[in-house]
Parts: sequence; C-alpha cells; structure tokens
Amino acid sequence: MKILITGGCGFVGSNLAVLFKQYYTDSEVYCLDNLSRRGSEVNLQKVLAAGGQFVHGDVRVKTDFDRIPAVDIVIDAAAEPSVLAGKVPGELENLIDTNLNGTINTLYFAKKHQAAIIFLSTSRVYPYDTLAEAKLVASPKRFNLSNDQALKGLSEQGIAENYPLEGLRSLYGATKLASEYFIQEFAHNFGLPAVINRCGVLSGPYQMGKIDQGVIVLWMAKHFWKGRLGYIGYGGLGQQARDVLHVRDLFRLVQWQIANLGLQKGQIFNVGGGLENTVSLAELTDLCTQITGNTIEMGSSLENRPGDLPIYITDNSKITEFSGWKPEITVPTLLQEVHDWFIADEASLKAILA
Ligand SMILES: NC(=O)c1ccc[n+]([C@@H]2O[C@H](COP(=O)([O-])OP(=O)(O)OC[C@H]3O[C@@H](n4cnc5c(N)ncnc54)[C@H](O)[C@@H]3O)[C@@H](O)[C@H]2O)c1
Repeated sequence: MKILITGGCGFVGSNLAVLFKQYYTDSEVYCLDNLSRRGSEVNLQKVLAAGGQFVHGDVRVKTDFDRIPAVDIVIDAAAEPSVLAGKVPGELENLIDTNLNGTINTLYFAKKHQAAIIFLSTSRVYPYDTLAEAKLVASPKRFNLSNDQALKGLSEQGIAENYPLEGLRSLYGATKLASEYFIQEFAHNFGLPAVINRCGVLSGPYQMGKIDQGVIVLWMAKHFWKGRLGYIGYGGLGQQARDVLHVRDLFRLVQWQIANLGLQKGQIFNVGGGLENTVSLAELTDLCTQITGNTIEMGSSLENRPGDLPIYITDNSKITEFSGWKPEITVPTLLQEVHDWFIADEASLKAILA
C-alpha cells in the first residue's frame, strides 16, 4: 500500500503516518507538508523515525505534487484548521489557497493516479447561526442538548448529516464545504473512490494546541506548565461542551474505510467522540487539575466570541450503522496520554506549548 498524506507533519497527518507504518510495515507513506504549523517540525521527527518519507512541499503549488510517486490512497490532512482564520490581511488568501485550492490540487493528483481520497472535513460545515439556537439544558458544569429540538438532524445525541446547511459557517467552514463539493464531483465524474469525514474536535498526542485551535491540548499544556486560561462567553463558567475523538480512534475508522472503499462512493459521515465522549471546559479543568496536580488561574469573560458555539456533539449514528465503528478511547485516557507525551518530549514541546 502506498499512501500520500498531505499535511503529513500536522497533528492528524503525523499520527496517521506513524500508525500506518506500525500497522502496515511494508507500506510506503509520503508526508507532504510545508511545515507552516509551529511544531510540525517536531512531528516530522516522529514520522521519519517511524519510517515515513517526507516531501517538503506546498499543496498550493500544483507542481509540488510531481515529486510524489503514484500512490493508492491520498489522505487530505493539510489545512489552515483554525475557525478564526481569514480575518487578518494575508491570512484570507492562505486559507482559501490551502484549504480549497490545495484540495483541488490534491484531487488532480488523485485523478492522475486513480488513487482513493479520504478527506478530513469538519463539523464547521454546519452553520453556527442556526446551531447557536439549539435548545440547551444547563447543569452547573455543562450544557447538554435538549431532547426537544426544532431542526431536523439535531437531537440529544448531537448533529447528524441531514442538519440543514443554510446559514453562515465561517470562512474556514466554507473552504471545507466547497472542498467537499469538488471531491464528490471528482469521485462521480472520474470514478475516484472517496469518503468525506466531517470531524468534530480531534485530539491526542502531537497536537500543537494553541488559543484558536486544539483546545484540549492547550488546556492540558496550560495546566502542565502552569499558565493561565479563561472561560470566554456563555456566562463565563466554562459550561460550553464539545465531543472529542482520539486520533487513534480516527485511525481505526480510516483502516476500515480503506478496506471498504468500494462501499462508500463519496459519502459523507459525521465522525466524532459522540455524546459519551463530550466534555465541557469546566470538566476539562477538573480533569487537567487531577492529572497534573496543578491548579491554575482561570479568567472569565461574558462576551461570546463571534462564530463560537455553546455546544457541538457529533451524532455518529450513520457511520456506526454503516461500518460498526465507534469511538473507544475516553477523554480522561486521552488527557493522560497527552500528559505523558509532554513528560516524554518536554525539551522540544515547552517552547511551543507552554
Ligand atoms: N484537529 C481537529 O480538531 C480537526 C477537527 C476537524 C477537522 N480537522 C481537519 O483535519 C485536518 C488536519 O488537521 P490538524 O488538526 O492535523 O491540523 P494541523 O495544523 O496540526 O496540521 C495541518 C498540517 O498542514 C500543514 N500545512 C498547512 N498549510 C499547508 C500548505 N499550504 N501546504 C502543505 N502543508 C500545509 C501544516 O504545516 C500542518 O503540519 C485538517 O484538514 C482539518 O481541517 C481537524
């Protein structure tokens, strides 16, 4: 098996690359990355140590793909993944060129070699302005979704694939949704096996968490290195909640998807930790405090961030029914692994994450 992972030194890309090399020792794994994300240079060392091959290149540049041999599978994991990206001059072009034009360049490459494509899309394709209206039930430490919702695709279990797409979704969400449309057209018109995974929050070791992306690792890092955090918006108590999927659980799904490519035909699946692996910021604080033994200063602001949501939970029903896959790794286990990674790699991580 020959695999190209674009963004192969990012959080998801490097984890998948290392796991592919562990599980399929004779596979060839090419990681294309421009190392623009701080910390991707650290992940590169993990990829190389596992036997992956690095191609320093840019998905925005079509000819950079000429340096990669024919592959069977392409995993599109190169992105500017911040939901806040695109507002600052210069960032907008990078966001659109990387997330949309980069995916189109990736599709040309997949078409040339008739390779299957697995796309990491996002829950951010669903509009925040309607999601913000979801009915909530509040407990002191957490919001939950009410079992009485007005919109289709929305239930206590979370957001399903038939949730209406009309509305605003952020510039980031727009680049990913537009990419999905091109993937489906390439799959249909050129016979490419394809699957689209709309992921909720993903986390685990090798995630270079920062204020606008990678909240789970950011939270643990600020506890570990005794920094400062704050609850922003929704009453300022940290009740906002997300489901969290461990990247190794995502890998298990990708394994199944590769083994069953013929069944998927460009389908879209919501993929996340689900209701059982949902955590609020206040709960996250408790878990990080327990694991690190450190209590840190927690600020609070009442003003909501534009485009933010009080809650997002992935409804995994479709993918679980289709494949039998469901998440196995709990949030406390994930946090413990992140903590152990900090201890093991503190020398290279402190300057990036502290
Ligand atoms: N992490 C999450 O919670 C999450 C959730 C939903 C979807 N996703 C999607 O999963 C994918 C991977 O996300 P991640 O969390 O690993 O992000 P990441 O930032 O850790 O990794 C992205 C990688 O892409 C590289 N990159 C950026 N621009 C590039 C370019 N122009 N050319 C080549 N490489 C470039 C970066 O250097 C980085 O190594 C993205 O498509 C993202 O939208 C992530």
